[in-house]
Amino acid sequence: MKILYVCTELFPLLKTGGLADVGAALPAALQAAGCHVRMLLPAFKAIAAGVRADGPALPLSRTGGPEVLRTLAQAPLLIPGHVITSGQPVYLLDAPELYQRVGGPYQDRAGQDWHDNAARFALLGWAAATLGYGADPHWQPDLVHAHDWHAGLAPLYLKLLANGRAPKPSVFTVHNLAYQGLFPASSCTELGLPEALFNVDGLEYHGLLSFMKAGLQFGDAITTVSPRYAREITTAEQGCGLDGVLRARGDRLSGILNGVDYELWNPATDPLLNAHFDGQRMSGKARVKRALQRMMGLEERADALLFVAVSRLSEQKGLHLLPPVLPELIERGGQLVILGSGDIAIETALREALAIHPEQAVLRIAYDEALAHRIIAAADVILVPSRFEPCGLTQLYGLRYGALPLVHAVGGLADTVTDCSLEAIDDGSASGFVFHEFSAEALRGAMRRAFALRRRASDWNAVQRHAMQQRFDWQEPAHAYRALYQQLLAPAVAPDSPVLS
Ligand code: ADP
Ligand code: GLC
Repeated sequence: MKILYVCTELFPLLKTGGLADVGAALPAALQAAGCHVRMLLPAFKAIAAGVRADGPALPLSRTGGPEVLRTLAQAPLLIPGHVITSGQPVYLLDAPELYQRVGGPYQDRAGQDWHDNAARFALLGWAAATLGYGADPHWQPDLVHAHDWHAGLAPLYLKLLANGRAPKPSVFTVHNLAYQGLFPASSCTELGLPEALFNVDGLEYHGLLSFMKAGLQFGDAITTVSPRYAREITTAEQGCGLDGVLRARGDRLSGILNGVDYELWNPATDPLLNAHFDGQRMSGKARVKRALQRMMGLEERADALLFVAVSRLSEQKGLHLLPPVLPELIERGGQLVILGSGDIAIETALREALAIHPEQAVLRIAYDEALAHRIIAAADVILVPSRFEPCGLTQLYGLRYGALPLVHAVGGLADTVTDCSLEAIDDGSASGFVFHEFSAEALRGAMRRAFALRRRASDWNAVQRHAMQQRFDWQEPAHAYRALYQQLLAPAVAPDSPVLS
């Protein structure tokens, strides 16, 4: 089974969030499950630098598709190659005018969306569709797997390009419904999309063109990254205005929980740590904690309950719930370390709150992979108080490193963390602290439970050992995706999304 995996981020080359971690691990796991996977990525500078070309560049057909194909001075190319560090086969979509820029993949250095994002990511979807129908004479996928709004037009272009042939099937995976790729209605024409599709049953979202909605309407299967989030997004509360579409296509929607790359996230071998540990030998964790306290200028107290967060600073992540509980956290002898980057207003609010307790609380504004490992390894409790969370990876990393997750009961957080209720401690299933109402008061209750458990050393140790034994390998999700691909490729299943000629 040949799969084209279309996305925009790939760890360690280019990462703004969990999408990159998934991009690095899932194709490899699918490969191990017997699929032949090639990725398609825009040739952003950082990605191109980590890929070695291994075949002749293929010109992208300039007939049909988005107008940008014809307006670029240089014809876009598809460059077959492989990721130097992993050997993963990829196609780079090379259009220097669109992708080789100083700034982020989606925004410029000032944090403004690139003005031509509609064209930049439409081209990605278009390139995926042309590969689906033989743009590379040596390799043609059986199915296209498109990720998030950036690749949302791929399923639609696959249908538009079918020209009477059976459309190549596609899977569309939602990593975060809150980022939708919305553009003016006039973009439809520029992107080569039939105007007849611009209505509420098609691509329109409140007068705008939605790339996310295109993926949801035209993907032959829709997945998201946890079973709980798959249910949540069909409700008005969490559906970001797309719950109606998701309900209508409910029989095509499923949740497949992300996994963890335990080669990278293993406290017994992690080369980024000053000491190592596992469930049987925990003394290394105390050394990692001491080193972090020293590095961060915190009071070096082994008994301080160390709370951490490693997170994008965005409204989604709920970090604004922390300042109200910080005085009590410190009064009870705790410490707090936050590593994050993103929204300036959130940064300012956290900075002001934490500055009052410089020896017990630190905010580090950075995107720093090595520091993320050290902080998670040092932590007693990892905070993920997200308002919503499609899957979440840091709570899974926390579990492996014996940092008990303290989480809001939503999405993948609810699917992966079991609260330390007395029953759960008793039956050995407890792995963290879960609060239900999205409020600082509810978070405070969970924080108090963390302190209470810590005073019961043998219970704490048992919960920590259990947390560290949890496994969220990629093998199981890879098999679930493979089963889904097989289902779509079985001749008996007819796609239920509109077939376009
Ligand atoms: P999201 O994709 O919504 O940001 P996830 O929990 O799925 O959330 O993934 C976040 C990823 O980004 C994790 O690998 C986490 O360790 C990493 N990360 C987030 N913020 C930082 C940061 N400031 N420095 C280093 N890594 C970070
Ligand atoms: C998104 C989500 C996050 C998820 C990640 C990888 O960025 O916000 O919850 O873990 O994608 O699927």
